[in-house]
Amino acid sequence: MDLKGRLKLIADMTPPCDVVCDIGTDHAYIPIYLVMNKRCKRAVASDVRKGPIRVADKNIEKYGLENYIDTRVGDGLETLKDGEEDIIIIAGMGGLIISGIMEKGFDTAKKANLLLIQPMNSIELVRKWLYENGFDICDERLCREERRIYNVLAAKWTGSVQKKEEIYYYIGEKLFENRDELLESYIQNKLRQLNKIIVEMEKMNDKNSDLRLKNESIRDGLSRLLRDYQEELRRGFDEQNK
Ligand SMILES: C[S@@+](CC[C@H](N)C(=O)[O-])C[C@H]1O[C@@H](n2cnc3c(N)ncnc32)[C@H](O)[C@@H]1O
Repeated sequence: MDLKGRLKLIADMTPPCDVVCDIGTDHAYIPIYLVMNKRCKRAVASDVRKGPIRVADKNIEKYGLENYIDTRVGDGLETLKDGEEDIIIIAGMGGLIISGIMEKGFDTAKKANLLLIQPMNSIELVRKWLYENGFDICDERLCREERRIYNVLAAKWTGSVQKKEEIYYYIGEKLFENRDELLESYIQNKLRQLNKIIVEMEKMNDKNSDLRLKNESIRDGLSRLLRDYQEELRRGFDEQNK
């Protein structure tokens, strides 16, 4: 089995481990790929709905991995047993649902050696939840799949609550540290989306609503970070070519 784009990035960010638990597994492609490639010794493929688990079971059977991947039906992290808190993957859901899963399963999330999180939207809620609940975001990377750019976050509980400048809930600090090659395109896309929303609000004569002011503040913050980042890249380039 081959993975690409979003799912491949999640697999690439999974360190060699004993157990991978894929929450909201749907098709179970990630556990199948990781077991087949010997990245983990065994896996748990868990979903709140029976339908996806039926599909997961068929896929697991197709690859003959029934002895290595356990499927379970249940909400969020509640299906995991003691000692399975190794690598936990929560991918392909909205930021609000993902934060809710971590909130409900806080004791389990805290014990994980690593959480790999891939939100489809409202990623700022996830970063804020992690920082405010004592998790460190130790890595973040971007990938492009078709026309969309996706984020994958790696986080671990340290117990130390971090208060960040609000803009860093909207854009991952690690993306700057990693000099992610998609970072400039990612911010430019975000700026285009925000500008569109702000123009629409202008047309509706909405000058001062909290939402409008908030959107403007995020836009200004992202523009500032992009300018500083591009300046830093230019300086690095000039140094190298002296
Ligand atoms: C869009 S699929 C994502 C599948 C896969 N993780 C991926 O990234 O491609 C979302 C899956 O999450 C499941 N899901 C939603 N809420 C959940 C919860 N609270 N606990 C477990 N699974 C959940 C859904 O049933 C669905 O199968």
